[in-house]
Amino acid sequence: MKRTHSATDIGLEHVGTRIILNGWVNTRRDHGGLIFVDLRDRSGIIQIVFSPETDEDAFHIAEQIRSEYVIGVAGTVQRRPQETENPNLKTGQIEIYIDKIEVFSSAKTPPFYIENGVDVDELLRLKYRYLDLRRPEMRDNLMLRHRVVKTMRDYLDSRGFLEVETPVLTRSTPEGARDYLVPSRVHPGEFFALPQSPQIFKQILMVAGMEKYFQIARCFRDEDLRADRQPEFTQLDMEMSFIDEEDIFQLVEGLMEAIFQEGMGRSITTPFPRITYDEAMRKYGSDKPDLRFGLEIIELTDLVQEVEFKVFSSAIKSGGVVRAINAKTCGSFSRREIDDLTKIAIDNGAKGMAWIIVNKDELRSPITKFFTDDQMETILKALDAQPGDLLLFSADREEVVSRVLGVLRLELGRRLNLIDDRILQFAWVVDFPLLEYDGEAKRWVAVHHPFTSPRVEDVPKLDQEPGQVRARAYDLILNGTEIGGGSIRIHRRDWQEKMFSLLGMTMDEAREKFGFMLEAFEYGTPPHGGIAFGIDRLVMIMAGRNSIRDVIAFPKTQSASCLMTAAPSEVSPRQLRELSLKIREK
Ligand code: AMO
Ligand code: AMP
Repeated sequence: MKRTHSATDIGLEHVGTRIILNGWVNTRRDHGGLIFVDLRDRSGIIQIVFSPETDEDAFHIAEQIRSEYVIGVAGTVQRRPQETENPNLKTGQIEIYIDKIEVFSSAKTPPFYIENGVDVDELLRLKYRYLDLRRPEMRDNLMLRHRVVKTMRDYLDSRGFLEVETPVLTRSTPEGARDYLVPSRVHPGEFFALPQSPQIFKQILMVAGMEKYFQIARCFRDEDLRADRQPEFTQLDMEMSFIDEEDIFQLVEGLMEAIFQEGMGRSITTPFPRITYDEAMRKYGSDKPDLRFGLEIIELTDLVQEVEFKVFSSAIKSGGVVRAINAKTCGSFSRREIDDLTKIAIDNGAKGMAWIIVNKDELRSPITKFFTDDQMETILKALDAQPGDLLLFSADREEVVSRVLGVLRLELGRRLNLIDDRILQFAWVVDFPLLEYDGEAKRWVAVHHPFTSPRVEDVPKLDQEPGQVRARAYDLILNGTEIGGGSIRIHRRDWQEKMFSLLGMTMDEAREKFGFMLEAFEYGTPPHGGIAFGIDRLVMIMAGRNSIRDVIAFPKTQSASCLMTAAPSEVSPRQLRELSLKIREK
């Protein structure tokens, strides 16, 4: 009973042929004299028919089989009577009259239907992931992922890249998340860290003369999980020597063209637009702007310096800004809807959200009384306000205003249906700051990571105004999701040491943690740079899903556990002893 065909390989040209199929019982319909079974294998579904007239024994076995039984069947392909053709099936014009069946295994009733769009708790799907993956949409996601990864390998191979594996048991890499640690048995009290990325190894590979490297690399980050974050995820990681930003942009744009063509038959427009970090933050309130719609943020700070309204004037006096969004056509929002938006603003750190509804002959607003007619005129003009519009204001430190209006912009985009999900809107975000001040830790931290090179012309500012130094870093954004990021690196020991010291590391600390890298830089280091893509995020967008869990075969839950294997789990006292570990009382 070894298969001769896959289900969807069979077509009208096979009518009259005897074939053998293997697969799962998708559904079974008993019409008394005839039993119809939709047989499913990885390729899809085909209808098979059991009739006592074709074979009595096979018919009786078919009376016993149930959904998800695994069977082998042999029979002859026939054209379906015209009125029973099924245009929804690839194999809908044919059926197979079975004369022989073997049941390979029976099955319990699954806890949910094996079909697309099942309405069932995701936790149940994760516990029975092997059943979940039988659903065609999940199978399709894994197939798409396979094609995407294969295209990446082919594309890079054809351009002279070498795929090199780097260790999973290693030292901590500073990508900004917490490490997963693995205790060493051989060295009691010492730990490996799982890599947050292969960053250091790929740079060392450049020192080693590999010139063009890539890897489909598993990365581990112990951070708060969200729909687009997993504790272990996969990067397409790349690094090249003797290149600059333009080489990376060109290579990546070609790669994306290939991926979208091979993965989903879509051609995308290149080159991708570029937007500076400053512009992205100012206009869209985000360093990963969704450019599929407008609703840009408007700067009002200079125009409202003199107003009486304390909320605005005191924000400006203390160095903050005033900005606003014109929510076109939202003048009809109810008080409740406005309160709703205010709550979103406050949840994101705002102290309030001033608003104005522009009616034909009057303004409705709690704040108009604080403005002269001229001042109001200026504001309305700056915002291009028309009757029917709703204006939303935020006054605070620049960082808060950006975040608040950025979130409100996305919320309005969704509510007003401004986001066309057929569009693929790529953009490079460039000119990131190199450093940002961490108020809690009271020190400067790297915006990207400590190996990113500053722009040469900004280097003189490193000591006096570190916050003003721009990095040679770039992110690739697709529809408001950061799908990749990278930079041109520092390739000199003295600059790298300088960077570590700006980040508050003592020379001893730097040498203890990164001495091997600093030393490597002294043995002839090519200028180099690279980028890494979140494969899960990319495939998620291509598959039109909202969570990367849907494109990962065995993902973790929001609480970083695997429901199928029940990992993580306790270990035996003996294992702990071997590792010289003791668990404190929980
Ligand atoms: P970065 O930290 O930006 O850069 O990571 C690169 C890309 O990986 C994806 N990503 C994630 N995907 C799923 N779950 C996560 N927890 C997660 N974290 C990140 C994102 C992101 O754009 N070494 C550098 C790259 C370089 O400089 O070349 C790095 O890891 O899509
Ligand atoms: P108040 O004077 O505090 O009653 O605020 C008057 C209006 O300004 C209310 O609609 C508040 O929601 C709004 N508001 C308060 N603080 C801010 C702020 N930082 N930015 C924008 N609007 C604010």
